[in-house]
Amino acid sequence: MRRVLVTGGAGFLGSHLCDRLIARGDEVVCLDNFFTGAKTNVGHLVGHPRFELIRHDIIEPILVEVDWVFNLACPASPIHYQYNPIKTIKTSILGTMNMLGLAKRVKARFFQASTSEVYGDPVVHPQPESYWGNVNPIGIRSCYDEGKRCAETLCMDYHRSNGVDTRIVRIFNTYGPRMALRDGRVVSNFVMQALSGKPLTVYGEGNQTRSFCYCDDLVEGFLRLMEYEGPDCHEPHNIGNPGEFTMLELATLVKELTGTSLPIVHEPLPADDPKQRQPDIARTRKNLGWEPKTALREGLQKTIADFRPRVEAER
Ligand SMILES: NC(=O)c1ccc[n+]([C@@H]2O[C@H](COP(=O)([O-])OP(=O)(O)OC[C@H]3O[C@@H](n4cnc5c(N)ncnc54)[C@H](O)[C@@H]3O)[C@@H](O)[C@H]2O)c1
Repeated sequence: MRRVLVTGGAGFLGSHLCDRLIARGDEVVCLDNFFTGAKTNVGHLVGHPRFELIRHDIIEPILVEVDWVFNLACPASPIHYQYNPIKTIKTSILGTMNMLGLAKRVKARFFQASTSEVYGDPVVHPQPESYWGNVNPIGIRSCYDEGKRCAETLCMDYHRSNGVDTRIVRIFNTYGPRMALRDGRVVSNFVMQALSGKPLTVYGEGNQTRSFCYCDDLVEGFLRLMEYEGPDCHEPHNIGNPGEFTMLELATLVKELTGTSLPIVHEPLPADDPKQRQPDIARTRKNLGWEPKTALREGLQKTIADFRPRVEAER
C-alpha cells in the first residue's frame, strides 16, 4: 500500500484526486487549510480506514511519512487568489519549498500542480511546454502566475541539487462537480445563473473561445504522470483539452441541459478579458498516452447535477 499526501486535498481537484487514490487502494493523507476547500468535498471519505484529514497550512513545515506528495494547495480562481495576494505567493513559494523539503527528507516522489498561467498572455498558439511565456511580473495576477513559475523553478532545483524525484503538470481550465459555486469562472457562472433563474451573461458577441477539461480526465493524467519514469519525466507536462468552444455555444448548452428558457444577455467585454489559451498536448500524448475523453455535454450534465442541490440549499 502506498501512502500519499495530497495538499489542497479538500479543494475541487484535490478531492477528486483523493477519491481516485482511495479507489485504487492507496492510503491518503489529505491536508488543507480550508481557505477555498471544504470538508464537505471529502466528507464521504472521512471515517474510511485509509483516509486521514489534517487541517494545516503549507506555509508552515510538516513532517509526514509518505511515498508520494501531490502539491495542489493554492487558491486557483482570480477572485480567490487576489483576495490576499501576499498569502497566495507565500503558498506557492514557501509552501512548495516546505513540501519539497518534506519530499527530500522522506524520499517521496513529488508532484507540483502548475498552471497554464505560467504562459501568461502567450504570443505562441497553441502553447507547447518549451514556450517560456509572456507574464507581467507586477500585475494583479502576478501573485498567482509568478508564484507558480517560481514553484516550478523550486521543483527543478530540488531535483537537480537534491535529487528529489519531481513531476510538474501545467493544468489548463478544468471544470466539474465540487467547483466552488462562486469562483467567478465561466462554467460555474453560467450554471449558477441558469439554476438560480438569472439570465446568462455573455461578454461581447460571445464568439471568444475557451477549452475545458473534465476533472476526472485531468486526475487520470495526474496519475499517469506520477507513474511515468521516462527520461523527460521531470519536465513540465501540459494537461488540458485542446478542443475549443465559443462562450455562446457553452451558454446555449448550459441552457439546454438545465432545461431553462432564460435569455442570454450580452454585456461589454471586460478590458482584461484573457485572450485565447490552448494546450499543445503532444508531449503528454506521447509520454502518457493521455487524451481528454469526456465530452463537454457529459461533463456539464454531471456538473449541473452536483450544483443543483447546492444552489437549492442556499435558497
Ligand atoms: N481548476 C483549474 O482549472 C486549475 C487550473 C490550473 C491550475 N490549477 C491548480 O490546481 C490546484 C487545485 O486547484 P482547484 O481548482 O482544486 O482549486 P481549489 O481552490 O478548489 O483548491 C485549492 C485547495 O488548496 C487549499 N489551500 C489553499 N492555500 C493553502 C495553504 N496555504 N495551505 C493548505 N491548503 C491550502 C484550499 O483550501 C483548497 O482546498 C491549485 O494549485 C491550482 O493552482 C487548477
